[in-house]
Amino acid sequence: MENRLFIPSEILSTRALPNLLPLPDAPVHLDIGTGLGHFIAEMAQRHPAANWIGLEYDGKIIKRAIRRVRRAAPHNTRLLTMHARPFLLESVPPNSLDHIWLNFPDPWHKRRHADRRHTHPWMLGLLASRLRVGGELHLATDVPTFFEAMQAGFADRNGIIFTTDTPWRRETLGVQTKYERKWTRQGKPIFFGDWRKTGETEPYPFDRQPPPPFTVTELPPPGNYGAGRYTAKVFPPRKLSPRQAGFYLIDHQWGLSTPGYFDAAEGVVRLKGAWTAWKIALVGEVIGDW
Ligand SMILES: C[S@@+](CC[C@H](N)C(=O)[O-])C[C@H]1O[C@@H](n2cnc3c(N)ncnc32)[C@H](O)[C@@H]1O
Repeated sequence: MENRLFIPSEILSTRALPNLLPLPDAPVHLDIGTGLGHFIAEMAQRHPAANWIGLEYDGKIIKRAIRRVRRAAPHNTRLLTMHARPFLLESVPPNSLDHIWLNFPDPWHKRRHADRRHTHPWMLGLLASRLRVGGELHLATDVPTFFEAMQAGFADRNGIIFTTDTPWRRETLGVQTKYERKWTRQGKPIFFGDWRKTGETEPYPFDRQPPPPFTVTELPPPGNYGAGRYTAKVFPPRKLSPRQAGFYLIDHQWGLSTPGYFDAAEGVVRLKGAWTAWKIALVGEVIGDW
């Protein structure tokens, strides 16, 4: 078990959620995009017998949440820095979360950023797969199209239903986050939505079939390489040795870019950050097209 209130990404990428919980057998609430921590600090204090996990990928913002939570409810809360998608995929086992809270998620209005939205079909599938049966996902947003996209996206899936006027929603209507205060002051309407997992949902593709192991034998020349949903932007070695080539793998499906390098001497691809075998398999797909 991890006793620290704050757990940075280097540690996170090697731990599974069950080892990070402050209260091992208690229900788990995950607050994605926790921001300054107003919501999690208040809720963790009100519900001391539950685990409250705050996930925020901005290292500066989370420092303010740490201060707030330390004063409020450090014994049942953990604050993590990492991008939500790799965290859900790699650290959270399927069927393990009781509640997922999405308070004012970034709407990513631009069309070219659509794949970063939590309403992207891959993300909806991942979120649904991580909830346990009976678990709930709660959304608050000031963006009506975001709310509609989530409603439409979940309506297409088995095992998850829209639900209104739940006890959790009623309770949290009085708990205002920084963004809720901001939009309310500006007179914007707020949209609240709650979904319950009522049965098994579609397994997430990478849970069903782990990707095969992968090695590289040749270095590609610098340039841009595309293979449908993924692009590898390869740049000449800078601080790397002559046997290595750096690249960014741009994943259009997930809206993420991942730095890494090929090492011809060792015959391997190395990716930085929290990415593991399945991402390396994506590089394999790109290489296959060269
Ligand atoms: C608009 S703010 C809302 C913050 C807070 N929930 C509130 O209501 O005041 C969105 C927050 O989510 C974080 N965020 C956005 N995408 C994320 C992701 N994929 N993983 C983790 N955090 C994310 C941002 O850094 C930002 O702090």
